[in-house]
Amino acid sequence: MKTIFVTGGCGFIGSNFVRLLSTSTDYRIVNFDKLTYAGNLENVADISRERMRFVQGDICDRELVERTLAEEQPWAVVNFAAESHVDRSILDSSPFLQTNIGGVQSLLEAARRVAVERFLHISTDEVYGDKLGKAPSNEDSSLAPSSPYSASKAAADLLCFSYRRTYGLPILITRSSNNYGPYQFPEKLIPLLLRNGLGDLDFPVYGDGLQIRDWIHVEDNCRALMAVMEKGQIGSIYNIGTSEERSNFAVVEAICGAIAAHKGVDLGQLTARIRYVTDRPGHDRRYALDTAKVRNELGWTARVEFSIGLQRTVDWYLSHAEWVARVTSGEYRKYYDSVYAQSWGQSS
Ligand code: NAD
Ligand code: DAU
Repeated sequence: MKTIFVTGGCGFIGSNFVRLLSTSTDYRIVNFDKLTYAGNLENVADISRERMRFVQGDICDRELVERTLAEEQPWAVVNFAAESHVDRSILDSSPFLQTNIGGVQSLLEAARRVAVERFLHISTDEVYGDKLGKAPSNEDSSLAPSSPYSASKAAADLLCFSYRRTYGLPILITRSSNNYGPYQFPEKLIPLLLRNGLGDLDFPVYGDGLQIRDWIHVEDNCRALMAVMEKGQIGSIYNIGTSEERSNFAVVEAICGAIAAHKGVDLGQLTARIRYVTDRPGHDRRYALDTAKVRNELGWTARVEFSIGLQRTVDWYLSHAEWVARVTSGEYRKYYDSVYAQSWGQSS
């Protein structure tokens, strides 16, 4: 039985990927995660310990990574571990450079000492930068990251390819659009709005709310990641997205509608809570991906239509109020105030 070494498997996409592996394959899973504020063992509590070994560790800890890889001799490494939130990278870029670049270097070094057959690095459409008025990015488009987060991800992509060329490491890279679905930490737009909607908080919209994103349900992304891991051409990049463009305002309106229906209240009561707040510095207006490669080469297509996926996500958050409360206790309040009350950490 092949072993898959997954890093960051207790975060949002990682935990959904581990769940997909455990329900639809017979791979053994090693889940290596530091358990930062964004990682939570509760996210994988339903996965049997016979299928998944959990190791608490930092990908920057080269010795531990190397020892674990040597013990496990995995067929594939799949790297989700990252600092993933753009807004936090604006407040403090240091952990982003440490984990997203230094951690990737440590993983690459460790991986080249064992005979892994696949090293799948999870990247993002944000590395292509702002696509306002431009053609959608294909895998050969130039990199033009705008935030410390996306710059750290672009640096890691380049590092991965340098290890392909220099040491022959079997690198694969995916760049997906915005994911949504269960277990997403309530700092990202959709779960943050749902948390605020569960309580009596406002719905913050940055700037004019007309920024465009392409939302993909996390289960669709995870199926694409599995296809790339198993059948992707070594040395390749694959964009993953739905190519459906939506303004942030349209997403906020859809969420207000879903919460109004759930609570049986008038839609106007919810939309009255929309607040336009100080824009994110350096905010990209539009992301747009050309996803022909993953569809044509690997036969993948998105299955979850946005309105259905959003309704399922709303239902999940409304029925997991205790999870939401637990993961937003602790330092969350301080973070929230830095962005929303003090306008990006500037006390007014
Ligand atoms: P997340 O923040 O929900 O989870 C990150 C996980 O990595 C957590 O479990 C955390 O504990 C772990 N981690 C962080 N630093 C670590 C370290 N130094 N060592 C070991 N573990 C560490 O992130 P996510 O949204 O699930 O994103 C996963 C990956 O996908 C990231 O690489 C991100 O850049 C990329 N991505 C995310 C999206 C999205 O919409 N969320 C879209 C495209 C790409
Ligand atoms: O595009 C892929 C990227 O998607 C991933 O690489 C990142 O890891 C992931 O966090 C996500 O980045 P975004 O910055 O696009 O996601 P976020 O949910 O933070 O914001 C989505 C949009 O909503 C963005 O235009 C900013 C806006 N926004 C966000 C928040 C949190 C608001 O208007 N108000 C908010 O309170």
